[in-house]
Amino acid sequence: MAPKNFSIYVRPLVTLLYKPTVLFRLCPKMDFSVLHLLGLYLVIEPFFVAAAQTANISLGSSLTASDNSLSWQSPSGAFAFGFRGIGDQELFLLAIWYDKIPEKTLVWYANGDNPAPIGSKVELTKDGHFRLTGPRGEEIWPQSVISGVAYAAMLDTGNFVLANQNSVPLWQSFKNPIDTILPTQVLEIGEKLSSRQTASNYSKGKFQLQFKPAGTLELYLIALPTEQAYSAYYKSNTSDAADKMNSGNQLVFNESGHINVVLRNGNIVTLTNKTASPPRDYYYRATLDYDGLFTLYAYPKNGSGTSWSSLWSIPENICFDSTGNEGGGPCGYNSYCKLDANTRPICECLPGFSALDPEYKLRGCKQHRMHSCELGDSKPQDVYVMHELPNTFWPSSSNYEELQPLNEDDCSRFCLDDCNCVVAVIKAGTCWKKKLPLSNGRQDWNEYGKALIKLPKSDAFESPASRDSNTEKKDQKTVILVGALLLGSSVFLNFLFVAAIALLVFYTYRKTHRVITSTSSIMEANLRAFTYKELEEATDGFREEVGRGAFGTVYKGIISSLSSTNYVAIKKLDKVAQQGEKEFKTEASAIAKTHHKNLVRLLGLCDEGANKLLVYEFMRNGTLASYLFGISRPDWNKRIQIAFGIARGLMYLHDECSTQIIHCDIKPQNILLDDSFTARISDFGLAKLLLSDQTLTHTVIRGTRGYVAPEWFRNTPVTAKVDVYSYGVMLLEIICCRRSLEMEKENEEEVILTDWVYDCYKHRRLNKVIEDDEEAGNDMKRLERLVMVAIWCIQEDPSLRPTMKKVTQMLEGVVDVSVPPSPSLFSSIC
Ligand SMILES: *[C@@H]1O[C@H](CO)[C@@H](O)[C@H](O)[C@H]1NC(C)=O
Ligand SMILES: *[C@@H]1O[C@H](CO)[C@@H](O)[C@H](O)[C@H]1NC(C)=O
Ligand SMILES: *[C@@H]1O[C@H](CO)[C@@H](O)[C@H](O)[C@H]1NC(C)=O
Ligand SMILES: *[C@@H]1O[C@H](CO)[C@@H](O)[C@H](O)[C@H]1NC(C)=O
Repeated sequence: MAPKNFSIYVRPLVTLLYKPTVLFRLCPKMDFSVLHLLGLYLVIEPFFVAAAQTANISLGSSLTASDNSLSWQSPSGAFAFGFRGIGDQELFLLAIWYDKIPEKTLVWYANGDNPAPIGSKVELTKDGHFRLTGPRGEEIWPQSVISGVAYAAMLDTGNFVLANQNSVPLWQSFKNPIDTILPTQVLEIGEKLSSRQTASNYSKGKFQLQFKPAGTLELYLIALPTEQAYSAYYKSNTSDAADKMNSGNQLVFNESGHINVVLRNGNIVTLTNKTASPPRDYYYRATLDYDGLFTLYAYPKNGSGTSWSSLWSIPENICFDSTGNEGGGPCGYNSYCKLDANTRPICECLPGFSALDPEYKLRGCKQHRMHSCELGDSKPQDVYVMHELPNTFWPSSSNYEELQPLNEDDCSRFCLDDCNCVVAVIKAGTCWKKKLPLSNGRQDWNEYGKALIKLPKSDAFESPASRDSNTEKKDQKTVILVGALLLGSSVFLNFLFVAAIALLVFYTYRKTHRVITSTSSIMEANLRAFTYKELEEATDGFREEVGRGAFGTVYKGIISSLSSTNYVAIKKLDKVAQQGEKEFKTEASAIAKTHHKNLVRLLGLCDEGANKLLVYEFMRNGTLASYLFGISRPDWNKRIQIAFGIARGLMYLHDECSTQIIHCDIKPQNILLDDSFTARISDFGLAKLLLSDQTLTHTVIRGTRGYVAPEWFRNTPVTAKVDVYSYGVMLLEIICCRRSLEMEKENEEEVILTDWVYDCYKHRRLNKVIEDDEEAGNDMKRLERLVMVAIWCIQEDPSLRPTMKKVTQMLEGVVDVSVPPSPSLFSSIC
């Protein structure tokens, strides 16, 4: 039991751990051993910002890897060169990073495969050598000697240069890129980038990008460790076998943030031509990400509380564009690949298989239990079942038998009876039996075709989670068995045994106790109580404001834990009613009980008289408003996924929570996007707090102009249907990528989005509302359905509006959508 519970409590703590000083105040009851632990931690935690040098780096300079090591900055301070710690094992990369942004994003690193221990040193020796050595003087980097250096310089472009006395570069980071290129950087023929393994493991990953001799930019998988290339999953269209002059010569990432191929004849092919012109005053980088996508990112130079946003990436569908018979494909062997809303691959193991390395999912999967052909007296159907995985398939290479014509039942039965068969695919009357390991598996809902997987019956009815706990149960059994055996022997032995167990228990208790004493409040509803002082420190005196809403101001805070640094969003409520004391706790615990992937999680709260604060997960990708109305128009499909997600989140709040939660202020500013661009509703459950003893009827109109339902203005009770109304307005904004009110529209009819869309719908001119959005234009049927759903949602009469449950069903096409009536019976609400 202990280990299982332990991990449950540890995780929230790890995310919530503050700077050590704060942690101390959090847990006054901690015993000495914890203090000791913290004592150690205090030593490693960097407390002061490292000073930096900006001039030329002269002979005899060096940097030493430690937690507060110095760095060499570029003149403007935008970039720095030095050591960056990775993981929690005191290992360091010699790296270049964007130094003015909180993330300190690495754009180059020397020793990803061979991180340097603490005490390692990078040195420009008096005799002009440049090298990285370990604490005992062993050479870590580079592999070939760099000598004759007169000085080094970290330039404002992000290029780190070693030059001789004539200022001729002998070595530069721009000529030795790792996984990222920066504006002004050029890739010549033959030069390449290599991905890292995971977001936080900088060892060489399995994707590469190369500017090939034929003049094309290619992305491909490699076989490690030899780096032999498999066939490309992306190839730029910049090669001309007939006339070499029409072929590419260089890949140029230009200053204004475009990635171009310059042809031998001087012409330019812009790869990023689908992107609107990247805006000014942004930092850029183009990175071959660990999931195999080559992505152009931008970050506002003076932006606070933002993150890198992706402007462009290739390929469009890595799951489908990767083919070939060798290598496991982007997700590795025995897995299947599908795309998330942001066209990033998601890798899943086939049922009956588990990840070779849970930290590195792209490595692929292994069979959980090998099948045996020796079944004794049992029949295959007693031992195995066939599990269906719809819309999943593999390129044809891995077949060992093809049966035709065959229906699904027979295909399934033949595989079950064939002791060599683990996976079969049935599509349009053909049944293919597949060989292991399987490469390039993929899932796509447009694909008709079904995988049939043979599973031992014991696996089929077990979730992966229960499988893990099974191993624990086994351990328990052995302990009990040993105990029983011992109890059978002499009293003396028993005594010894009991004493030993007592010691053991005491010891383990102390060990786990360290953590658990400080988390007692987490046990209730997983919610943590903070003091105002702690949150003040976490936000550095409420310095960085990331948002402002009806309820107060939101600040970005930082939580350092032993293993990582986590951002949180801290909402300082400024209008909580006086008599709302008890209600605050009740509401907060109601919010804490919500668990849904489309809701922002509440992690903790502070309740000290007038100081009422809520601590939430931090959502890196900002609000839906900035996504929709931002730099470039997001993909149609991504937008639809977001609209679906919000509908599901609202359905959960309305119908599936123990107490119904009406949001009252649904709008794109209150929808946040997480790392994978999944929509997450924020600010829910707060409406009641502000109203204290008033019931949910008018007097104070909650909500925001443009989104509020008409009943707020009438003397009718407010129900969950107000959220349906606001959702409808927002759905139209998502569809059209414009705000519900745009006063500056030349054409007056277009000012109010709801009215305009209804007009267009009524006159069968829906193509007008999407303007030049080609993707949406090619999907008119779905577009029409979504618009009809939205019109149902914005009906003036609340009883005509569907419930969120119905909305979800209509969106997903589970139920038909009937022709909606005109939404406004009277005049417009605005
Ligand atoms: C660095 O040294 C080079 C060559 O000596 C010189 O041209 C350049 O101006 C120096 N830069 C700085 C910032 O001192
Ligand atoms: C990265 O992964 C490799 C193997 O896949 C492992 O040996 C190495 O320790 C990992 N590095 C870190 C810093 O976790
Ligand atoms: C960068 O490339 C784009 C597209 O080719 C072009 O429009 C722009 O002028 C270029 N910017 C610079 C600074 O060369
Ligand atoms: C972008 O480039 C591709 C191929 O080079 C071309 O087919 C496409 O029409 C271009 N798109 C735009 C918007 O210019």
